[in-house]
Formats: sequence, structure tokens, C-alpha cells
Amino acid sequence: MVKVTVCGAAGGIGQPLSLLLKQSPLVDHLSLYDIVNTPGVAADLSHINTKSKVTGHVGADQLEEAIKDSDIVVIPAGVPRKPGMTRDDLFKINAGIVRDLATAAAKFAPKAFMCIISNPVNSTVPIVAEVFKKHNVYDPRRIFGVTTLDIVRASRFVSEVKGKDPKDVNVTVVGGHSGNTIVPILSQLGESFTQEELDALTHRIQFGGDEVVKAKDGAGSATLSMAFAGARFALNVLEAAVKGTSVTECTYIDLAAASPEAVQSVKEATGDDSLTYFSLPVELGPDGVKSTLPIGAISDYEKKLFAAAGAELKGNIAKGASFQ
Ligand code: NAI
Repeated sequence: MVKVTVCGAAGGIGQPLSLLLKQSPLVDHLSLYDIVNTPGVAADLSHINTKSKVTGHVGADQLEEAIKDSDIVVIPAGVPRKPGMTRDDLFKINAGIVRDLATAAAKFAPKAFMCIISNPVNSTVPIVAEVFKKHNVYDPRRIFGVTTLDIVRASRFVSEVKGKDPKDVNVTVVGGHSGNTIVPILSQLGESFTQEELDALTHRIQFGGDEVVKAKDGAGSATLSMAFAGARFALNVLEAAVKGTSVTECTYIDLAAASPEAVQSVKEATGDDSLTYFSLPVELGPDGVKSTLPIGAISDYEKKLFAAAGAELKGNIAKGASFQ
């Protein structure tokens, strides 16, 4: 019995994400939690003739029932950006929401794989980790910041420039999930880029989210592409856990779950030996993080990106880790 819970299931990301998860034969029970509207979303999705049972839970007094014994908890709950806002501006509201959902997971589904979408991911993942530590159920291999949208965007944007099918363009994107902390390693693609192309692509991958925020003009941030990316990530975690399929995805993790070689590569790339969270290529397995790959060779251009990412990430991590 595989139970997947989506917290924030009635939202812009939550609804299409739940739809995509409903399509998976790997899911037996899809549990939808939000503070509003989940009975309707659940009733609607429950008519789709795939294997999973769908249940809707609304409000804090139904959170335990929603989350209890989940194998995966995906969290896209909270507020999205409006034009002019950074992801860090969301901290004030989303930090408390994520902390409370993590507390319920630590109590009622301590073994769940936690996939954190709510921004600022650079800080919300340390918040979840601290809650699990407090409840003595922390396993750093099971808590992930979902950065898959950055990888999806990078693949799409590079394929547009190079005239390729995106399925053949896999860009390693590491670091964190906001502006300068997002580091695409284009030099590892084996493609040649002009300096102009490099600058434009790097900027577009780092700030692609702003294109959507601007185009939606106050109505929120990426939801459909995020649902696509979030479902891909959650289903890969599930594939690895349930079927034993080996899948590698870049994801933001506590470096306590990373190999010494990978940790060393973060130190060398950023020039900072105090970073405790970083997104790296992670091989997923039955217990979540199975192994981590080091960053690998980087260009001088990318060295500068890493230095800038490290400096910003450090503050984001400290802010999340010290949140009570
Ligand atoms: P939305 O406002 O459309 O939906 C959020 C949902 O969360 C709403 O249905 C709301 O009722 C619910 N919610 C609020 N408080 C809650 C609580 N205490 N418990 C459960 N549910 C609660 O927002 P949207 O567009 O779906 O974005 C959600 C989050 O995802 C935002 O923080 C956004 O910044 C983030 N995001 C992350 C991305 C990533 O790449 N990791 C990409 C895009 C957005």
C-alpha cells in the first residue's frame, strides 16, 4: 500500500500535481490536504479510473488523518510570489506553514519521504530537518528540496538554443533554488556556447521563475510546469523506493546524507567549507538518498557562479535552521 499525501492540494500547484500523481499506477492512496477546498478536488479526482483511492482532508483537525502512515509527503502549501518579490520574501508566511506540516509528518509519518516545494526552498528544507531532529526521527536521506523545475527549465532553454529535443539535453543544476543560488553546469554538456549564449542561458535558468511571475501579473508563480516537475520528482522517489529502479535527480539535501567526495566538491567549488545544505545529483534508492555524485569539473565562469551561490545560500540555510 503506497500512500502519497499532498499538502496544499487545492492550490495552483497542488491541483495539477495531484492530477499527475493520480495517473501513476504506483500510488494506492492519494491523500489530499489543504485548509480549503480539498473535498471538491478529491471528489473530482476520485472519478478518474486509475488504481488509487483519493481522500480529501480539510483543516488542521484533519491533518493527522491525512498524513498518517504516508510513504511520501509532498508540500506545495503556502503563498507564491507576486511581481517584485523574491522567494525569501515568502519566508515570513511559509516558514510557519511548513514547520506545522513537518511537525505532523514527524509525529504521524516519520518514515515518509518529504518533498518540499514551498518557497524559499533553501530555508524551508532546513526547517523540516530541524523539526524531524526535534522529534528524534531525522534521517537526512529522506528529506528533499524539490529543485526539479530548474532542471526542467534548463533542459528546455538549452534545447531551444541548440535546436535539440529536450529529452536529449540533461543539464546538471546544483546549489539552491533561488536566483543566484541556482547553478547550471553548462560546461559539462559537451556543447560549445558563445559568451553571449552562456550569459543569457545562465540568467534565464536562474531567473526563469520571474518570467512566469511577470506574465501572470499578480496571479502567482509557476504552477503547471511546477506540477510537472514535482510529479516527476515524487514519482522518481517512488520508483526507486518501490521498484528499486535506479534514478538520479538533482535535489537539495542536507550534506549529512552526501558522500565525503560530494561534500568536498561543494567546498572546492564554492570555496566555503561551512555549507550544510546543497543541491547535488542524487541517486535515489529504497531509503531515499542512495549515493551522491560530486560536482565534477567546472569552468572558470562557473567558479564565479558557485562563489556567489555559496555566499547567498549560507544566510538562507541559517535563517531556516534557526526558525522555531
Ligand atoms: P497557491 O496559493 O495557489 O496554493 C497554495 C495552497 O496552499 C492553497 O490552496 C492554500 O490554501 C494552501 N495552504 C495555505 N496554508 C496551508 C496550510 N497551513 N496547510 C495546508 N495548505 C495550506 O500557491 P502555489 O502557486 O500552488 O505555490 C505554492 C508554493 O510553491 C509557494 O510557496 C511557491 O513559492 C512554491 N513554488 C515552488 C517552486 C519550486 O520550484 N520549488 C516553483 C513554484 C512555486
